Amino acid sequence: MMAFVEDANSKDNINNNDFPYEIKFVDKEINEQLLKDFTGERTGFVQVGKEKWFFPSKFIEASTHFYNFNVRPDDTWIVTYPRSGTTWTQELVWMIANDLDYDTSAKIPLTDRFPFFEFSIFVHDETKKEFLSENAHDLEKVKMVHHVSSPVWEILDKIKTPRFIKTHLPFSLLPPTILTSGCKVIYVARNPKDVAVSFYHLNKLIRTQGYLGDFPKYWNYFQNSLHAWTPYWSHVKEGWNLRDHPNVQFLFYEEMNKNLHATLRKVSKFLSKSFDEQQIEKLSQHLIIDNFRNNASVNYDVLKDLGILNSGEQAFIRKGKNGGWSEEFTQELSEQADTWIAENLKDTDLRFPKL
Ligand code: A3P
Repeated sequence: MMAFVEDANSKDNINNNDFPYEIKFVDKEINEQLLKDFTGERTGFVQVGKEKWFFPSKFIEASTHFYNFNVRPDDTWIVTYPRSGTTWTQELVWMIANDLDYDTSAKIPLTDRFPFFEFSIFVHDETKKEFLSENAHDLEKVKMVHHVSSPVWEILDKIKTPRFIKTHLPFSLLPPTILTSGCKVIYVARNPKDVAVSFYHLNKLIRTQGYLGDFPKYWNYFQNSLHAWTPYWSHVKEGWNLRDHPNVQFLFYEEMNKNLHATLRKVSKFLSKSFDEQQIEKLSQHLIIDNFRNNASVNYDVLKDLGILNSGEQAFIRKGKNGGWSEEFTQELSEQADTWIAENLKDTDLRFPKL
């Protein structure tokens, strides 16, 4: 199996074994514009396979590691398009799977309990150099910069079972054994307007993305699948199409927000756990947005301490509402988005819960 990679600058071809899709840099002009708008990436962006999954350049070297990763039968994975409530679901799943171990949850950051599979490809070497030089006065922080940017698949290979793994990669770029090994997978979907508004704010907040533009321009990239982990619809439909797989639990963010207790019971059943009403109520208090936002073990304060988050932007754990999209969409843009959504729902029985 072989992938064909066309380099943005040299036009050299690179053979990339053990990965079944073609990888190509996006057109030169679009790349130049993207690099101006998303300042965390410095080389350029690639598109992968027929779906044209969109990633920064470091995807090229990581692709085979992702695809051939050694899945274990007792892994638990969370697969989402970004800003679909991943962090919230990670903590929820981890707590249920670990019999409500509040002590360990408070002691060990979620990023270590539930590592982010592909984060390192979003830390370009040049951007990392900047983070290192800004933190050079503090050895502990330098170590942390190395820690958060090191290839997670290597760390995961070495850690004991059971493992908990977060990814935004779509199913088709994950190791196919994820569906045959017996491991558990939770897929969370959220409506695209709320996802885009939430991701827009994160793109301004986190310097690995470093977005400098406004929302309409951002939406244009998102809708045209020129944005990290897009195409959004292919991502969500791949998850939706697996909703009846015995080892896949499909969730909607909107439903979690409307009825957290029901979600906790559903996920407990999926993970073969059982809790009484009092335990469920205590867990839901642990997870509600106001407590979650102030929980240092889950709120990404570590990235703030390293200067990887821009100050003055909205926080990683933001509003946590259904229907917050109206903050950023003009009527015209909203109508255009609704048409796009309707077109993409035509060929599927996927329907987002009413807000
Ligand atoms: P908003 O930006 O709309 O507020 P992810 O973890 O996939 O990046 O998703 C982030 C989104 O989930 C953000 O949405 C964030 O505020 C929301 N979120 C995080 N914790 C939450 C919670 N405890 N309850 C509800 N929403 C939460």
